[in-house]
Amino acid sequence: MQQTIHIKDKRFRTFIPEADILREVRRVAEEINRDMAGKNPLFLSVLNGSFMFTSDLMKCLDIPCEVSFVKLASYEGTSSTGKVKELVGLNEDISGRTVVIVEDIVDTGLTMKRLIETLEAKSPKEVRIATLLVKPEKLQVKLHIDYAAMEIPNDFIVGYGLDYDGLGRNYRDIYAVTD
Ligand code: IMP
Repeated sequence: MQQTIHIKDKRFRTFIPEADILREVRRVAEEINRDMAGKNPLFLSVLNGSFMFTSDLMKCLDIPCEVSFVKLASYEGTSSTGKVKELVGLNEDISGRTVVIVEDIVDTGLTMKRLIETLEAKSPKEVRIATLLVKPEKLQVKLHIDYAAMEIPNDFIVGYGLDYDGLGRNYRDIYAVTD
């Protein structure tokens, strides 16, 4: 059943129900279980948006692995660089390790591209991407996404960890803006 929620000035309608999300998360987890066996990967969950995805994904993994949480802190760079996102909270030595980034959504892909460059500079064995959602029509950069639970159109969405101005992360379903 479709449900409407209001957040600030916007109205959202149920777009992906929890059961569908969990089915796709399980599917991705099975692929990861198969590909990552014996690699002892380090999952790097990018906060805040990926906390629910990370939790449900990790519960479906049955391989030896580690999970850690990082943030991308936005700050104003020089006028030439504009807004820069700096990686904070990475305490692990990732050299020689298989790293899997766990992200909520890849939109333009700029955030992910930058994060990969930052991680590559620390000499990991390999860096893979696991994202809950991708908006393929909005991708602006060439990006190899190893694991994507779902592809969606350009709509702005909230719920299951994703927010609108800090709100809406708590909902178990995903909602799309209606206006
Ligand atoms: P990108 O750098 O354009 O790929 O932006 C990725 C980031 O933008 C994600 O990690 C989210 O934090 C945010 N984002 C992009 N689309 C949405 C959306 O529809 N709802 C909520 N956040 C979004």
